[in-house]
Amino acid sequence: GAPVEVDISKLEAGMLLMVEWRGRVVWILDRTPSMLATLEKLEPKLADPNSEKNQQPDYATNRTRSIKPEILVVEGICTHLGCSPVFRKDIAPEDLGPDWLGGFFCPCHGSKFDLAGRVYKSVPAPTNLVVPPHTYLSDNVLLIG
Ligand code: FES
Repeated sequence: GAPVEVDISKLEAGMLLMVEWRGRVVWILDRTPSMLATLEKLEPKLADPNSEKNQQPDYATNRTRSIKPEILVVEGICTHLGCSPVFRKDIAPEDLGPDWLGGFFCPCHGSKFDLAGRVYKSVPAPTNLVVPPHTYLSDNVLLIG
């Protein structure tokens, strides 16, 4: 599949954009400062907080799993059996519990991922969500693939 160019000029803080690349859904999330602040806080609850299982390119091997701290680019495919997780930015909702600070929830078997796509401990999904290869052609144009 060919790389996909995405105009992110209209992406606002807290907003999720979905694009398709090689038949897969790729999410682009513009994280607010308060969303970014949850990442460190959640680390004790995560299975691979330092992304040691190489589910991302080297340039995204950092806490935010991204090139620009605020912009997350990640495949929207659960690493358990491939369902589509749901973006949930609500804090501590009744169904997800008081520890939930926003992230991606997979309704198929209950896997939870934080706002960097990092998987929680003790859920069926074995690894963090995959960050696809990507680069910025300019401030507002992202190339995926
Ligand atoms: Fe997502 Fe099983 S496919 S938890």
